[in-house]
Amino acid sequence: MSAAAAGRRAAELRDLIREASHRYYVLDDPAVDDAVYDEWVRELDAIEDAHPGLVTPDSPTQRVGATPTRGFPSHTHLHPMLSLANARGGDELRDWNRRLHTVLEQEGMADPHVRYVVEPKIDGLAISLTYEDGHLMVGATRGDGEVGEDVTGNIRTIRAVPLVMRTGIGRPPGRVEVRGEVYLPLAAFAEFNEARAAAGQATFANPRNAAAGSLRQLDPRLTAERPLSAWFYAAWAPDGPDLTTQHEVLEWLQEAGFPVNPLIRVHDDIAAVAAACEAWEERRGEIDYDIDGAVVKVDSLDMQRRLGAVARAPRWAIAFKFAPTTATTVLRAIRVNVGRTGAIVPWAELEPVQVGGVTVERATLHNQDDLARKDLRVGDTVVVQRAGDVIPQVVSALTQRRTGDESRFRMPTECPGCDTALVRPEGEVIWRCPNRSCPAQLVESVIHFASRGCLDIEGLGEKTVQKLFDVGLIANVADLYDLGADDLIPLEGFRDQSAANLVRGIESSTLRPWSRVINALGIRHVGEVTAEALARVAPSLEALLAASAHDLARADGVGPVVAGAVTGFLSSGENRAMLDRLRAAGLTMRMEVPDGPVEGPLTGCTVVVTGALDDFTRDTARRAIIAAGGRNTDSVSRKTTFVVAGADPGSKARTAAAAGVPVINEALFASILTGDLPVPARQPD
Ligand code: IVH
Repeated sequence: MSAAAAGRRAAELRDLIREASHRYYVLDDPAVDDAVYDEWVRELDAIEDAHPGLVTPDSPTQRVGATPTRGFPSHTHLHPMLSLANARGGDELRDWNRRLHTVLEQEGMADPHVRYVVEPKIDGLAISLTYEDGHLMVGATRGDGEVGEDVTGNIRTIRAVPLVMRTGIGRPPGRVEVRGEVYLPLAAFAEFNEARAAAGQATFANPRNAAAGSLRQLDPRLTAERPLSAWFYAAWAPDGPDLTTQHEVLEWLQEAGFPVNPLIRVHDDIAAVAAACEAWEERRGEIDYDIDGAVVKVDSLDMQRRLGAVARAPRWAIAFKFAPTTATTVLRAIRVNVGRTGAIVPWAELEPVQVGGVTVERATLHNQDDLARKDLRVGDTVVVQRAGDVIPQVVSALTQRRTGDESRFRMPTECPGCDTALVRPEGEVIWRCPNRSCPAQLVESVIHFASRGCLDIEGLGEKTVQKLFDVGLIANVADLYDLGADDLIPLEGFRDQSAANLVRGIESSTLRPWSRVINALGIRHVGEVTAEALARVAPSLEALLAASAHDLARADGVGPVVAGAVTGFLSSGENRAMLDRLRAAGLTMRMEVPDGPVEGPLTGCTVVVTGALDDFTRDTARRAIIAAGGRNTDSVSRKTTFVVAGADPGSKARTAAAAGVPVINEALFASILTGDLPVPARQPD
């Protein structure tokens, strides 16, 4: 290829890659197949290798470009990074509202009509980004609010952060300062901590600390391995368009390519604001990131200017704080559990305590080293922390409360499940039961297999699994698929109906996607996030069996240890025999990529399903949409054609209705699938 042709192709590839990653990371609405995307990146890499002169600093290949630093230079923010005053409860929120009305009246605005924007308060790390003519120049931490640390190299590795702003055909935006919050999604946090515990490293108390640690890594390659993400909520663009409200700022940010939280809403009065904040507190567990409150902002930028700030906090915004997610309680006992891979995991039995609205009586202690590092003793008063669905953890002991009656924990020397002597391989921190037919391990592996992030078998909880083992109906996961209702009916606690339901639940588990099957296998070090990455590099069972550790290490977040665990698992004859049986039972053993666009009633449509449907599971609805030529996505965006809402629909139905996207019921959906009714039209904007 001539240098000129290479240059043109490189520019073209960069545009394609940028557009695809914007759709994927920011809009959550992927436009191309992962394999196609990977191929573009490979091609661009190859061109840049052959023509180093063509490499541009904001080429998508250059996210992890910076070399390790010895410390971070300081960066003076163009605008100070303020903090927020807190309101605890509706009364304090109304007090705040009265104060700001008084100030506005003093400013000469008689009877001001104030609108409010309510944003989730992300419990992450504030960052400030500076763009020059659309190119990311500096990414900095908050620091003391005036001067932060320049961590540009690390921030560039976060896929949600555009290296180049989308400016459309408007004039170049000059210098722009953008503010947002970097966070670690909860699922990724849980996996990350487990991996650290398994490697004998100290675990992080919460996603916030893990995100902070990641952003301050001296080597950007380490930051790049952590799946950080970001939401943006403020911008200054003196040469940009004239914006008059916070919600316009958010819209502009979104158009410029920054992820803006889709849950943000504008409200007309303080009662609606209070209701929204309270609703948020109740539903904080439903989202995949930690929020510690809601931020309420006066929408009008003119009013914001008139209101100004006192000390370091603006009068025009307030943080409605949620109940804390930490609490103190007494550590009653330390017990151990035998995990599905034989790992002996200590856990804490606690004096029951309310944490963020939920009663907690158990918490994970990760491993013996972690326990020793935290010097936890039975009888201690301890700090417990909970984040969303992540298993609560014991963070520390309040040593000043000790009376001398506390006792240290001794690790058992034999497996509590089968009495086999425990072993601790050289260099590892986890004690293990080496008995591969240890009943406790087998029970755990079936519980994991049936759990929510895996094959999600309704009606197959811990107790039922234990019962099926006890009566000898199952000895491993493959046996589940041989169960018939007749086997179950004689068991205590089963009736015709519940037996039929469980058998149906097991049957529908065969529809779960390939990545869930990988997760369900219970391979060491492989959780939900890693399983998805593995499914992308090994899109079928054949591909997985044929892959070398080296091939697998191409997957995001997979290094030699994880890759070795996967190949080790697959090399066992017993495991292969089990995989054969699972395949024979009809489990999904490949990624579903339709052969090409299917022509059907939904060709060209993007459909979101929310709430519970009667005649479809999520998987069967997805298949039906794809079979009818449509695309099925999880979140509502401008591209959504319509939303199907079942029982107890979530916020998606409201988001859609507010955006003028049609929301239809299941019956209508069924008629559209058969072509009996046309696809509903969007309301004109
Ligand atoms: S606005 C006046 N909006 O909360 C401006 N902050 O306590 C102050 N935060 O340092 C920031 N989500 O790290 C704002 N939607 C949001 C936020 C948010 C999280 C954090 C941010 C800030 C801290 C203030």
